[in-house]
Amino acid sequence: MKPVITSWIRGPQLQNRAIPGYQPEQIPAGATFSKLTPPAVTGLGFLEAVPDADLLAMADPNDADGDGISGRPNWYTIPSFVTPPANAITQGGKYICRFGKKASVYNLLAQAADAFSQDMGIASLYRPIDVYSGKEIDPEIPTQELNNIGFYLQTLKAPIQRDQNDPQVILGGQVFATIGCASCHKPTLKTGLRLLNQ
Ligand code: HEC
Repeated sequence: MKPVITSWIRGPQLQNRAIPGYQPEQIPAGATFSKLTPPAVTGLGFLEAVPDADLLAMADPNDADGDGISGRPNWYTIPSFVTPPANAITQGGKYICRFGKKASVYNLLAQAADAFSQDMGIASLYRPIDVYSGKEIDPEIPTQELNNIGFYLQTLKAPIQRDQNDPQVILGGQVFATIGCASCHKPTLKTGLRLLNQ
């Protein structure tokens, strides 16, 4: 019988490399896992700046419009170190998250803090638990540096589309729209007031 994994062992990711003198992690017996190719990080500040109200307006949890596409915001309790913008909408004390797996991370600063902790094993003021020992330790990165990385991600511009006028590219865009990809992958979103973290 497979053992039931009731909690993450040293976090949600497998640290399959280690510095000399330390053992890389093995997949725990009974754990299910999937491989993830991380998406590009350019232009995400624009997504962070889309108002919650616009996301709620797009939500259609029960496919009320009958287009075969349903979707709902992911309401989560947010970490104390993030500052929600003035136009944030809450529900029972929870906020709409939009980054990370299953849109479980509130903003780019939180994603950066999680990445330092989970992807690189670097503890911070925001994520002080060392993934190797499971113990709280002093920050291994200055808080200002982490804030700066959040700001960098917020302001990293989206690349300009190449070959916009190439007929093949135009045709691809049309196919993308006609077969329903654009029902979820909205071609246009507008940014609105959201405050930066620092
Ligand atoms: C029901 C909603 C939905 C539809 C319809 C949909 N997608 Fe997606 N797509 C998503 C979501 C949600 C993600 C992000 C998944 C994640 O990050 O775990 C995604 C991710 C992607 C990605 C990866 C983006 C990245 O940066 O890693 C590509 C490429 C993509 N979709 C292409 C398509 C294409 C092509 C179609 C049409 C054939 C399509 N999608 C239809 C919801 C949808």
